[in-house]
Amino acid sequence: MCGIVGYIGHKEAFPILIKGLKRLEYRGYDSAGVALLNKDLDLNVYKTKGKVKQLEAYCKGKDISGNIGIAHTRWATHGEPNDRNAHPHYSQSENLALIHNGIIENYLSIKKLLINEGYSFKSDTDTEVLVHLIEYVKNRYKLDLFDAVKRSLNFVVGAYAIGVIEKGNSDTLVAARKGSPLILGVGEGEFFLGSDATAIIEYTSNVIYLNDEEVAELRLGSSPKIRTLKDQEVNHEIKKIELALEDIEKGGYPHFMLKEIHEQPKSLEMCMNGRLNRELMEIKLSGITDNIERFRSAKRILITACGTSWHAGLIGKYLIEELCRIPVEVEVASELRYRYPVIEKDDILIPISQSGETADTLAAIELAKEQGAFIYGICNVVGSSIARATDSGTYTHAGPEIGVASTKAFTTQVAVLTMMALTLGKELGTISQERYKKTVQELSEITHKIEKILLLDKEIEKISTVFTYARNFMYLGRGYNYPVALEGALKLKEISYIHAEGYPAAEMKHGPIALIDDEMPIVVISPKVRIYDKVVSNVQEIKARKGKIIAIVNEGDVDVKKMADFCIEIPSTDECLTPLLTVIPLQILSYYIASIKGRDVDQPRNLAKSVTVE
Ligand code: AGP
Ligand code: GLU
Repeated sequence: MCGIVGYIGHKEAFPILIKGLKRLEYRGYDSAGVALLNKDLDLNVYKTKGKVKQLEAYCKGKDISGNIGIAHTRWATHGEPNDRNAHPHYSQSENLALIHNGIIENYLSIKKLLINEGYSFKSDTDTEVLVHLIEYVKNRYKLDLFDAVKRSLNFVVGAYAIGVIEKGNSDTLVAARKGSPLILGVGEGEFFLGSDATAIIEYTSNVIYLNDEEVAELRLGSSPKIRTLKDQEVNHEIKKIELALEDIEKGGYPHFMLKEIHEQPKSLEMCMNGRLNRELMEIKLSGITDNIERFRSAKRILITACGTSWHAGLIGKYLIEELCRIPVEVEVASELRYRYPVIEKDDILIPISQSGETADTLAAIELAKEQGAFIYGICNVVGSSIARATDSGTYTHAGPEIGVASTKAFTTQVAVLTMMALTLGKELGTISQERYKKTVQELSEITHKIEKILLLDKEIEKISTVFTYARNFMYLGRGYNYPVALEGALKLKEISYIHAEGYPAAEMKHGPIALIDDEMPIVVISPKVRIYDKVVSNVQEIKARKGKIIAIVNEGDVDVKKMADFCIEIPSTDECLTPLLTVIPLQILSYYIASIKGRDVDQPRNLAKSVTVE
């Protein structure tokens, strides 16, 4: 997790670093810090517990001058979030300062070694060993900073993206990565470091994506020098990032999450653009057609992901099994990577990830690759580690998602899975021409229907005010809407800190029904689809136990409406597309419950947007 930024050039570094940290704050916000090399080439480090705002306040009146600096916003893995453990960390002599994103797995053995060499540690982090190790190697072998970093990292096991600067060294910033994201921005006579493009987009759109085990030296007046840990020279192309500033600003909304909820018609249009042809009513997904033989011979598809992306994967299973008749298994990546799963050459692994940086998902990909599976990714961030680790795939094109709670990434993932299933089903002949046309037609109308649901925002806000008292919530759905129940519950718990459970509606009677009393809010997702009548019976069971029912129903619903305390009416669509509609009111409901309770909606406690550690 965590965000790192770096600058070397002719401008004042501090404002650039602070702005970059604010953009990256969604990645971690336990503590923040900055290191600057001032005019006298002294190295100043300022760091504090809390958010970037607190760091800014802390720096008032201090020497924040300098044209070279590094900065960090932390999501603690080793050691409490406090001032001491905040980054940057000084080396023993205070000649070096270092920021780090990731985990150093063998930090204890390195620490022991360094303690024997007379080094002392000021923090409880794994990170601090890196800066001492680099100093030790630098002094012992009389190396410059670049070579010292390169040599030191050969001793390190784990994941890292780092930035290092040195007292007295006015023209060098050294960076390296393995397993954690890092990009280099190449400006006019200046360079930037960023965990992602949002940190640097204001200054340059020219970037270099470092690969694992590469070290870069950014030196004023020359082009970046990049070598592998094994000392091989690397020449990277400079790539252009396509990202508009307005995509990463709130645009008048109080929170990114609300903006992103309301952006869904637009993000889905971007996702379907060039893929869904409204004139011919057909879908073209080159990733699928280019690899059609792979899919034709697949005996099984395995979907893996974490959190919300895993929920999208569960919907993918329903879609692919119904429309393509290929067996699909869905497993959270953190489980898949440590089991001994049976994966064969003909299997296809579909990893799903918004950030493209989730460590567990990446590890599951590596495992499946080793066993010969074909990897077809669904990813939002172009050029991310997961996007690069896959054999082929489809980007969701949702645009940057900043709110920690995923919203538009989810609906675009489901849209991609829908387009994949329709394309595959058509190619494999497992879906009739008539069904294909009808579903594509419905998909082409989905954004318009979402716009209608978004107009219910105020109505849903009113319902939310009634339920801020709740300590528990239950979400029930069946079929395609069972994963939506899981997603609704996850949204509520992560931003409001109310305990919530998603359950398949009919399973309720096997246990959770015991929880129902007249205080328990139960969200029932019951669009008028094939098993509607069964859900009606489940609602009756709740009613009989006096549970408070909030129902998501189709316009004109009668049966559920009679029993529910509150109804949110949404347009109807093809059953397999209902998640794209039913999830919207759940996102809005959780948003308002959390914001009325005064929660930090965009940056909920203990969470971070991209989980680059296990
Ligand atoms: C979603 O609201 C969560 N914050 C989280 O579960 C997220 O979906 C998960 O960490 C996976 O992230 P990814 O899609 O970037 O891989
Ligand atoms: N492992 C380091 C720490 O706990 C870095 C965490 C991060 O990536 O923010 O300080």
